[in-house]
Amino acid sequence: MKTLISTRSLESVESPFLAVLVSDNQAPLKDASLERAIASGDYKGKKDEALLVYGAPPGKAERILLVGIGKATEITRSSIRRGAAIAARRARSLGTKTVTIAVAKEARGGLGVAEIVQVAIEGAAQGGWQFTELKKQPEDPKPELESVEIVINKADKEDAEAGRRIGDAVAAGYLFTRNLQMQPGNLCTPTFLGEQARKLATTYKFGVTILDLAQIKKEGMGALLAVAQGSAEEPRFIVLEYQGGTGAPVVLIGKGVTFDSGGISIKPAANMEDMKFDKSGATAVLGAFEVLGRLKPRINVVGLIPATENLPSGTAIKPGDVVKSHLGKTIEIINTDAEGRLILCDALSYARRFKPAAAIDAATLTGAVVVALGHHAIGLLGNDEALLAEVRDAGERAGERCWPLPLWDEYRELLKSDVADVKNSGGRAAGTIAGAWFLREFVDSFPWVHLDIAGTAYLEGEGPSHAKGPTAIGVRLFTEFLLKRAGAAGA
Ligand code: BES
Ligand code: MN
Ligand code: ZN
Repeated sequence: MKTLISTRSLESVESPFLAVLVSDNQAPLKDASLERAIASGDYKGKKDEALLVYGAPPGKAERILLVGIGKATEITRSSIRRGAAIAARRARSLGTKTVTIAVAKEARGGLGVAEIVQVAIEGAAQGGWQFTELKKQPEDPKPELESVEIVINKADKEDAEAGRRIGDAVAAGYLFTRNLQMQPGNLCTPTFLGEQARKLATTYKFGVTILDLAQIKKEGMGALLAVAQGSAEEPRFIVLEYQGGTGAPVVLIGKGVTFDSGGISIKPAANMEDMKFDKSGATAVLGAFEVLGRLKPRINVVGLIPATENLPSGTAIKPGDVVKSHLGKTIEIINTDAEGRLILCDALSYARRFKPAAAIDAATLTGAVVVALGHHAIGLLGNDEALLAEVRDAGERAGERCWPLPLWDEYRELLKSDVADVKNSGGRAAGTIAGAWFLREFVDSFPWVHLDIAGTAYLEGEGPSHAKGPTAIGVRLFTEFLLKRAGAAGA
């Protein structure tokens, strides 16, 4: 997806598809066709309301789409991102290869030009996405959205280009992640995730270490091994290192279960195919590295991905088994479907060697977070109030909202085992908190935040700004977090 900045007036835009984000029902440009449609009073300019007209002089655009993004006083980065996504989705379904996007003056809220351009590009990437890679005969084939043009005032060109640089990088990371999430379990295996990481490392000159089965054994990652032992696919433990600054790194950790059947505690068959999305934490980390490689901010970042399948077999772990983790603590397996925490606990233990300034893990960890927050918020838990606030803030800017749940000491009781140091499931009560408490048992005195993305990693239905399927959640949040920490867009 190519992007460009245009400083033409809206009347002189020659585009097959000009989308203008508006906060009211005024015509944002002189165009006979648009003015007539507005005069009819049919269009109210409400949030998500779209009006398509075929342009007429003095306007030059072939098609004009007005997209309502809500009241002028309530406009945020998310409103612009969403409006741009709606525009790109429409362009996509019409089959125009180009979309030109402008934001009416009244619809800019208090936002700066750089961030408007950035989030408009992010939105266009979101709305223009479609996955046909695995179809031999796509029904109703439509061309890719090739270019996105953003119209701004001449005086704002420099700011707009700065925003475009970030928007382009985020869009690339986002699309990389969303396509990778979509890959089925037979293609996207732990080995395949490792190859993806290695490719990123080659392209952007990251440090990379990929532990295979023998090396994982040697490293003593007994909890990751316990999950992997039921599968014929070898596990991988992936380490990516980006060095752009000085000082202790931020460590990003992503759950990489390439398929979660539940293991011996097998899941019901209905919708089990969605468990290919159980690698969404891992793909978010990889997408964040794609962004890092492009923007090169002044910060050090380590990415850790424990990758495995979770399958039942004659060699699989069983309820009641006790395994020894990388940290040394013993774990009683109560439920083999609580596998995410097992692979993550070894990653958190491995993270100690980097002396992290902060560690953030993203994981499709619990169905309980869907019960608590539905599909609109990431569950946010951790051991450090300042870091929790910082991550939550990054989520707001990214349009990937987080909502806190408590990690009070009382909840630790849920994980007391009769035979081992800790058990891997505390039953139905407070499932998301119990999952996070388990992880906390393996966090050795560094600031840490856990993001439970089980409700937000993929959508079961489509919306006006989003197709059904994966969301690349985490890529934008990680980016916002790291760029803010780095202090600038980079070298
Ligand atoms: N991968 C699942 C969580 C999940 C559920 C992700 C729905 C996406 C959508 C996870 O491994 C899991 O199975 N968790 C169990 C934990 C329980 C056994 C303690 C769950 O939530 O039921
Ligand atoms: Mn599971
Ligand atoms: Zn899982």
